[in-house]
Amino acid sequence: MIQYFLPSDIEEIVERLKPFISQFSGKTIVLSGGNGFLGRYFVEIFCKINDSLASDPLKLIVIDNLITSEQNKIDGIQSRQIDFIKHDVIEEIDLQDKVDIVIHAAGIASPYYYSIYPLETLDVAITGTRRMLSLAKTAKAKMIFFSSSEIYGDPDPEKIPISEDYRGNVSPQGPRACYDESKRLGETLCHIYNTNFDVETNIIRPFNIFGPGMVETDYRVLPNFASKIKGGHPVPIYGNGSQTRTFCYATDAMVGFFLVILKGLPGETYNIGNPMPEISVLNLIDYIKEATGKHIEFKVINYPESYPGDEPMRRMPSILKARDHLGYFPEVELKQGLTRFFSWTEKFYSGI
Ligand SMILES: NC(=O)c1ccc[n+]([C@@H]2O[C@H](COP(=O)([O-])OP(=O)(O)OC[C@H]3O[C@@H](n4cnc5c(N)ncnc54)[C@H](O)[C@@H]3O)[C@@H](O)[C@H]2O)c1
Repeated sequence: MIQYFLPSDIEEIVERLKPFISQFSGKTIVLSGGNGFLGRYFVEIFCKINDSLASDPLKLIVIDNLITSEQNKIDGIQSRQIDFIKHDVIEEIDLQDKVDIVIHAAGIASPYYYSIYPLETLDVAITGTRRMLSLAKTAKAKMIFFSSSEIYGDPDPEKIPISEDYRGNVSPQGPRACYDESKRLGETLCHIYNTNFDVETNIIRPFNIFGPGMVETDYRVLPNFASKIKGGHPVPIYGNGSQTRTFCYATDAMVGFFLVILKGLPGETYNIGNPMPEISVLNLIDYIKEATGKHIEFKVINYPESYPGDEPMRRMPSILKARDHLGYFPEVELKQGLTRFFSWTEKFYSGI
């Protein structure tokens, strides 16, 4: 059976969060998108946290409609006696439990999938966010919305590293608009519920998180590369490979997300990522070669029909606000993160 994380990573995350975890004692947490890449980390971490909250554990309710995640992944949720509800968050939900925290991580995050499901991508970020905000309002719960670094679009190079007050440069009609624009509207909804209805909201803008658990057929850059490498095929580079990204390993990202949940100031938005190094996609190949010790062939090709072009040319976060408000510091260097990720894909990817 596939393990969607490295157990040592989960231990590392919980160790880093140790001073704060008693705050989850007795809390009820609703997690949408809990069967996805980041959602599964939340599940494992909350289970691990519960080991030390034995007398007054937290209760986790996971919601997912499985639109992009595998049915067989939920086995690991159900076997932990966590409530799993197969449900589309755009529909109303009636929960009997008290709710303290709503984490809205449901979304259609992979460009490959949002090309296939543009309307569902809009719906989960707009109507789904409104439903989750409404749940938080009724329950007087805290609401965490997973937005995206994509809301910045193709940033003005003068604004790099991108801080939270940059308003972005997004096309309302481009091939990525269904994702970028709907996340922006999801943020507007959070702002309205915070200012007009007193809901304690936090918005998280993750910047290219990677790690074990990414599904092989998800086509985001690192799973795509790892799958081709495992299959012995050349790695495809779309466009010309000069677009830059920063990559944040899952343990650093999860620590950042938890710090937002625990310490985020009401109504605030936080970039979570690792600003160093900013590298081109071509340069990423060199890092992977070093991390894996493998010879890697690549081919530069046009954007295939299945993958939307109009990519941002640069993306690099400023994390000063997360550092100042939350004490957030990424600790895992890119090469180290790649070594952990590729050791996992070597075991669990089939190589397509
Ligand atoms: N991973 C990243 O680097 C990254 C970067 C930026 C933003 N995000 C955002 O963070 C969140 C989690 O990302 P992820 O990488 O885990 O994505 P993912 O695609 O792996 O998981 C998302 C989950 O949401 C579920 N889902 C989608 N629509 C739904 C609906 N209408 N109702 C219920 N469930 C639904 C899917 O089935 C899937 O299990 C997403 O909202 C994503 O947009 C992630």
